[in-house]
Amino acid sequence: MEKSSALRVLLVGLVIACLGGVSNAGSDGKVLVEFYSESLCPYCANFVVNYLSKFFTNGMIDIVDLRMIPYGNARIYEGDAIVCQHGPDECELNIIQACAIDHYVNATKWFPFIECLETLVWDLPRAMVLPNWKYCVIPSGLELEPIESCYAGPAGEKIVRAFGAETDSLDPPHKYVPWVVVNGTPLYEEYEDVEKIVCDAYEGPLAKPEACGDVRSAGRGTSQKRGVCEKGQAVLGDASQVAHAGL
Ligand SMILES: *[C@@H]1O[C@H](CO)[C@@H](O)[C@H](O)[C@H]1NC(C)=O
Repeated sequence: MEKSSALRVLLVGLVIACLGGVSNAGSDGKVLVEFYSESLCPYCANFVVNYLSKFFTNGMIDIVDLRMIPYGNARIYEGDAIVCQHGPDECELNIIQACAIDHYVNATKWFPFIECLETLVWDLPRAMVLPNWKYCVIPSGLELEPIESCYAGPAGEKIVRAFGAETDSLDPPHKYVPWVVVNGTPLYEEYEDVEKIVCDAYEGPLAKPEACGDVRSAGRGTSQKRGVCEKGQAVLGDASQVAHAGL
């Protein structure tokens, strides 16, 4: 075979390998779980507090690559402002979450902070969540400075805009949040069965966690608020909803 055609065969082979779905799995054969969320959606809070939190206590996190993409049903409005479904505080809290996720990278590090914030969403009136976000930092084992400087400066908004671009380029597009994608496939309303779906999808070298042998779906009987925050319900056109105007 000629050198150039051998190279072509190699390249075609590489392209096929890349298109073959391998790119959808997480590292080390872990199952890639991507959670598109928005900070003040009560159903996202439910998913975090009653479902994802279990991953960190029952061994599931050992077989999962967890990504969280806080943006959800937000929109870019009137040129450049980000408008969030549950108002300006949601935009701020999305940025705070994005800063922690971006800085700490490892879900085992950033998740307790997200869980604390979403517990506030659950427990407090909506307007009380943003004023209290700092109380979640130290108990979660994180440091205030990196999160606060990211949030106060341009970095945080930049990360959220990248998350927004990623959310808006989902294929198929998201219809609501929580929008949970496992190895590239959206779960739609089945998101409450994420644990079972992850167990079934795992083909890596580790023994499946004991939780995988448990036939009950995670969270059954513990969650009170089920449902979704629909994309179509985004509040647009209200000037009071515009957060970070001019940024
Ligand atoms: C994330 O952090 C935990 C706890 O420190 C550690 O056990 C785990 O290996 C880390 N995961 C990755 C992918 O680095």
